[in-house]
Amino acid sequence: MRPMSDRAGQSARVYLDHAATSFPKPQGVAEAMARSVLEGGASPGRGGYAEAVEAGRVALSAREAAARLLNAPGAERVAFTLSCTDALNMAIKGVVRRAGRGGGRTPVVVTTQNEHNSVLRPLRALEQAGECAVERLACCPATGRLDPEDLRAALRARGGAALVATHHASNVCGTIQPVKDVARVCREEGAPLLLDAAQTLGHVPLDVAALGAELVAFPGHKGLMGPLGTGGLYVARGFEGRMDPLREGGTGSRSELDVQPESMPERLECGSANAPGIAGLGVGIAWVLERGVGALRAHGLEVSRAFVEGLGGAPVRLLGPSDVEARAPVFAVVVEGWSAQEAAAALEAEFGLLTRAGLHCAPGVHRAMGTFPDGAVRVSFGAFSTVEDARLAARALAELARG
Ligand SMILES: Cc1ncc(COP(=O)(O)O)c(C=O)c1O
Repeated sequence: MRPMSDRAGQSARVYLDHAATSFPKPQGVAEAMARSVLEGGASPGRGGYAEAVEAGRVALSAREAAARLLNAPGAERVAFTLSCTDALNMAIKGVVRRAGRGGGRTPVVVTTQNEHNSVLRPLRALEQAGECAVERLACCPATGRLDPEDLRAALRARGGAALVATHHASNVCGTIQPVKDVARVCREEGAPLLLDAAQTLGHVPLDVAALGAELVAFPGHKGLMGPLGTGGLYVARGFEGRMDPLREGGTGSRSELDVQPESMPERLECGSANAPGIAGLGVGIAWVLERGVGALRAHGLEVSRAFVEGLGGAPVRLLGPSDVEARAPVFAVVVEGWSAQEAAAALEAEFGLLTRAGLHCAPGVHRAMGTFPDGAVRVSFGAFSTVEDARLAARALAELARG
C-alpha cells in the first residue's frame, strides 16, 4: 500500500466516515473531472465530432473498468447510476413492476430487517401501493448474520419470490453476509438475487460470475474511490428483459423508437450522463484495480485489527462480530455514559476525528441490536486510513468511555 503519497487533499483532521463516502480520492480523480468540464465538455454518445467521441471513450473505459472489477462478462452489463440508492431503486422497482404486470399474484420480495433505507424504503413504498408483498427476515441480533436456511424456509413458505434483496455487508455492524450460500439458496429455489454491495465493492473481493447474482448495486463514491453522484447496477446477461426501466428517455441510439431500447446499458441509462463524475469514477476504479482488491482487503483488515486491539478492555460496546475477518471495515460503537451524538461531537472537538452518529439510515440493525433510537458512533475506514488513524480512534473512544 502507498496510502499517504497518492492521496489528494489530505488534511490534519482524521476522516473516519468512509462508509458514507471515501475521502480523499486518489490523485487523478479530480483532474479527470476537471478535464471533462474544461477541455472536452461534450456529452458522451451524443454526436460524432471528436470531443463527443472522446467523452464516449472516457465513459466506456470507466464502464470497462467497472466490469473488470466485478468480473462481469461485458462492459454493457454495467449501467451507471447517480448513487447506490439510484441503482437499488432501479433494480427493485424494475423487477417488481415487471413481475406484477399481467395481474397474476402479487410479487413477493424477500429481504432482511438489517437493510439500508435505500432498500427498505423503495420496498415499503411498493408495498404501500399494493405492488408487492415483502418478507423481512431477522438477522442474528449478536452478529447481524443472515441464516441462508431462514431464507430458504421463507422462499418455500411463500412459494418463491420475484426477488431476494440483501446487503453484502452491513453499514452499521460491518457484518459480511454469507453471500455464496445466499446465492446458492436463491438458485436452488429459483429466486433472483439483488446484492447491495455499497459497503464491499473495492473493499472485499466480489466476483459476480462466480457468485451468480442477477443484480449488484454499488456506489461509485465509496470503495471505488470516485466522486459523489456516481454509482452503478450490474445486470446479469438477459436479466434486463425481466425488469422495467425506472426511467425512459434519450439514449443517443435507436432514436427512431418511441420505446426504450432493449439492449444494455441503454435500457436502464438515459438522459445526458454525469460525464465529469464518470470520468473521475474511471480513474478511481483504475486505482482500485491497480492496487488489487485483495491488497485493499488486507490493508482494511490490518487497520481493523489495530482498531479492535486498541479498544482493548475499554468500556465500549462494539456492535457485530468481534472477528474482523467477518466484517467490512465499519464499526458502530456505543460508548458507556455518552449519547451517540455527544460522543461523535467530542471525538471531533477533542481529537479531530470525523465519525457518524445515529442510526446510519439502517434503523432495523439498531432495533435488533438494542441501540434504537439513539444509535451508535460509527467509525469506518478506507483505503487511505492508516493503522495510526485506527489506534488514535480506539484511544479516543477508550478515553471518552473511561471519563
Ligand atoms: C448498505 C448501504 N446501501 C445503500 C447505501 C446507499 O448508497 P448511496 O449513498 O450511494 O446512495 C448505503 C450508503 O451508505 C449503504 O451503506
